Amino acid sequence: MIDREYDALFRDLAEQGFSCRDGVLPPDLIHDLYEEGLRAWQAGDFSEARVGPPQQQRRIPSIRGDSIRWLDDRRGEAGQEQTAQSRFLDWSETLRQALNQHFFLGLQRSEFHFAHYAPGAGYGRHMDQHRGQPHRRITLILYLTPERSPEDGGELCLFHPEDPDREWLRVEPERGRLVLFRSELLPHSVLPARRPRWSLTGWFRNDP
Ligand code: OGA
Ligand code: MN
Repeated sequence: MIDREYDALFRDLAEQGFSCRDGVLPPDLIHDLYEEGLRAWQAGDFSEARVGPPQQQRRIPSIRGDSIRWLDDRRGEAGQEQTAQSRFLDWSETLRQALNQHFFLGLQRSEFHFAHYAPGAGYGRHMDQHRGQPHRRITLILYLTPERSPEDGGELCLFHPEDPDREWLRVEPERGRLVLFRSELLPHSVLPARRPRWSLTGWFRNDP
């Protein structure tokens, strides 16, 4: 990624607490990530997502209906091609370091998962930081759904930081679109999908 693109992301984050940009990651990486996610899904490697703080996680499909699989950073055998997940994780490390240089966030690690929303699934309004769990500082979402159309639903809604009942903006989850926001700042939700919705989501954290 060239510095210019970082500049735009960081300016957005500084000015409005979020950034939504297309084309930050190369299309071939988006394509390969989708293919790897799809293969893992077809192999039955996803699990139904849960809600609540780490020790009290529960499955409540009316609140959260997606299925997830954490990214795998296995590099493959020597001489084998690097997986898309590992290429993405390399890129996310560069971004983590740049975020630290710019914002002094002390981000020490990250965690990312694929997410699949089947038709009908959504995710009610929530914050990505749980009470007493302040370590998620920056949320990252990268949309992967191929051939999406506006009727497919699954929009991301961001709500006002000071007035969580007021919708602030709605993001169409278009393939290749990257969303970053400050995890402690923005309530958000996912409207029910009408066609399978694919994404990669994760957090940069300030704990070791
Ligand atoms: C999440 C989330 C939003 C999206 O997984 O916590 O809010 O648009 N995802 O996928
Ligand atoms: Mn969220």
